[in-house]
Amino acid sequence: MQVSGQKIVVLGTGGTIAGTSAQAGDNIGYTAAQVGVAQLLAAVPGLQHAAGGAELHAEQVAQIDSKDMDMSVWQTLALRCAQHLQDPAVTGVVITHGTDTLEETAWFLSQVLDVRCKPVVLTCAMRPATALTPDGPQNLLDAMAVAAAQGARGVVSVAAGEIHGPRHVQKVHPYRVHAFSSGEAGPLGWVEEGVVRLVQDWPLAPNPSALNAFKMIANAPLWPRVEIVLNHAGASGAMVDALVRDGVQGIVVACTGNGTLHHALEAALLKAQDVGVRVVRSTRCAQGQVLPKPGDALPDSQGLSPVKARVSLMLDILQGQSA
Ligand code: SIN
Repeated sequence: MQVSGQKIVVLGTGGTIAGTSAQAGDNIGYTAAQVGVAQLLAAVPGLQHAAGGAELHAEQVAQIDSKDMDMSVWQTLALRCAQHLQDPAVTGVVITHGTDTLEETAWFLSQVLDVRCKPVVLTCAMRPATALTPDGPQNLLDAMAVAAAQGARGVVSVAAGEIHGPRHVQKVHPYRVHAFSSGEAGPLGWVEEGVVRLVQDWPLAPNPSALNAFKMIANAPLWPRVEIVLNHAGASGAMVDALVRDGVQGIVVACTGNGTLHHALEAALLKAQDVGVRVVRSTRCAQGQVLPKPGDALPDSQGLSPVKARVSLMLDILQGQSA
């Protein structure tokens, strides 16, 4: 069955979902990003049915292990998504991605794409395509069901039967198939036998200034340099001082607890801020967020994890440069 005129685009970027190993039982000694996205789709029976009969269009945007994700792949991915989303025949976009940096890509795309009326659904796998029990095919089926769901919108991630919004989703386990969580916020819903059951609304549309970011990233020749440093027992300011000497433009600090910092690291960060480096405090705690206090000298990440705060800070600096 094919619904005439409706299309779901599947953009491949690599990851374990496209990984292969020499031994079928080997779930860790494999190579990610080996199987093309068209081949992945062809191997899943019932995919077009899960897509509500829409025509499926596969496109290989990259073929990488997502630990190697970089800004140029993000730029290409955002541009391909935007172009397909503008096509009235396209009802949604599915992206196959590695699990390791999926949450960063999800947050990035949620900040630069106009997804007010259509969904962009990231999916992945923890077991390679050659595993005895690969999780990729079911995740693809579930992602397709979400992309085809009535009213679906925003950037969401689908894995292990759960649907996660971009703000809270986080990889929380390096091995288990159930590797993602939205922490205290919980998943937006689930996919059960091809049916989407939501308990929260689809993600909010980004604010208009975030949408402006798309125009900038489309042309950005050079991305701002933003690094992440960690507070820990015995922390010093040495790393921050070195980064400033090296021309860093932004630093996200993964603080202890409620945004606290070793006094030596704090002194170096304040000095960095004084010379124009943008500094943002996040927390290294797995749940919760930094609660700001009046008079805080360093701004907080407004609930974003360190890796997502880095994405937002890069976009913010880009916007500042073009203003
Ligand atoms: C990757 O992130 O590309 C490799 C790991 C995975 O997908 O699980």
